[in-house]
Amino acid sequence: KQQATWGGRFSAGPAELMLSFSESVSFDARLAPFDIAGSKAHSAMLAHVGLITAAERDAIHAGLDVIAEEVAAGKFKWNPALEDVHMNIEQALTKRVPAAAKLHTARSRNDQVATDMRLFFKWACVEVDGRLAEAQKALLALAEQDGEVMIPGYTHLQRAQPVQVAHHLAAYLEMFERDRARFAAVADHANWCPLGAGALAGTTLPIDREFTAKTLGFVDARGRPRVTQNSMDTVADRDVFIEFATACALVGAHFSRLAEDLILWSSSEFGYINLPDTFCTGSSLMPQKKNPDSCELLRGKAARLHGNLTTLLTMVKGLPLTYNRDLQEDKPPVFDSFDQTMTCLAVVAGTLTGAEIRRDRCAKAVADPALLATDLADYLVEHGVPFREAHHVVGAVVKLAETSGVPLNELATADVQQIHPALGDDWASVFDLERAAARRTGTGMPGPKQVRRQLARWKKRLG
Ligand code: ARG
Repeated sequence: KQQATWGGRFSAGPAELMLSFSESVSFDARLAPFDIAGSKAHSAMLAHVGLITAAERDAIHAGLDVIAEEVAAGKFKWNPALEDVHMNIEQALTKRVPAAAKLHTARSRNDQVATDMRLFFKWACVEVDGRLAEAQKALLALAEQDGEVMIPGYTHLQRAQPVQVAHHLAAYLEMFERDRARFAAVADHANWCPLGAGALAGTTLPIDREFTAKTLGFVDARGRPRVTQNSMDTVADRDVFIEFATACALVGAHFSRLAEDLILWSSSEFGYINLPDTFCTGSSLMPQKKNPDSCELLRGKAARLHGNLTTLLTMVKGLPLTYNRDLQEDKPPVFDSFDQTMTCLAVVAGTLTGAEIRRDRCAKAVADPALLATDLADYLVEHGVPFREAHHVVGAVVKLAETSGVPLNELATADVQQIHPALGDDWASVFDLERAAARRTGTGMPGPKQVRRQLARWKKRLG
């Protein structure tokens, strides 16, 4: 039976159950490229300060390169008995290269795993940013295709005021843009090199942390190395994990709301959009059904992203300093959040691409004159009526329309003037939808000019 790396003071190896219980290689093997990069930088530093020879460094590097190729080709044999990605790679290297016995000099798996994960986060943030940009492009394309169509905007899911479809879609462009800024911030927070913190108290050996940091690209904008400033914090800290999961959870909240809008819009009751067949499914029983499953799954996956964040927060809240094995459980939720966020954003883009706005149904819904009741109150304000009074007056006009079963804009002028004399003969002109839209000229408003300006800005930003 194989001796564990740390077996010196043990008289018995771990039980089979303990081995399978404690292994993490089944989920941390994906850190291999980062682990290898970390080991190459660490051994380069060891040679730089004279703790190993240049020949030993070169042998270690050559061996790690071969392992990297095997891993990439799927040929590397992962052994759960060796616990984790770090031990697996080190053992494989030791079999080939005698100098590998010196690789772990002045290093612990605690600063090693922290380094691997920080390298992972820096990479992952760029990947998610790319997917967010793709989702934004799909939103923009739909907004450019059918964006000038007007629909009711909603509050409390009750028809509120008319907006352009493009204005509604561009709200999600803003959300995803804030998400992108959040991932950029996470990548920046990840950009501090843990190596050299050791298990928790550094090392007595004369290492050069700045050298390692520079080699791994942990540098500021001016190329100066960034190394973590407290060895105990370094191996205990999981803030970046939580920040990454938070950023994913917020992306989830955003795509879940978008999904919900699309689900509503694609229902017969709204009928504003046709979703592409390629992202819908049918019913095994009801032949007429076309279900918006991609959107429903997006809503469901968002729950998972929120759960992963909760898992991480709960894991760290009572942990004493410094490293505790509990922290090995930090990786499944992080990787799951990354994988699901990546897939979900691709599904968002796929679902939007090929969606069609149903102009007839939108026109019918937005023809509801009550959507412009607020504009009628504004009309009164322009004729000198205080807003609170105007609000009350228009409320009475709406009530009259309802009780007499006449559309708001078709009430007799004489009848509305009985409610308030400031309602002039031109009172019904506010119900002209195009005119109403064109009057919304301020920044961020759904007037056609403003919306065109928004889209032009996004086009420029997204290329
Ligand atoms: N697989 C471990 C983890 O992910 C690596 C660190 C192990 N350190 C230790 N002292 N057992 O947390």
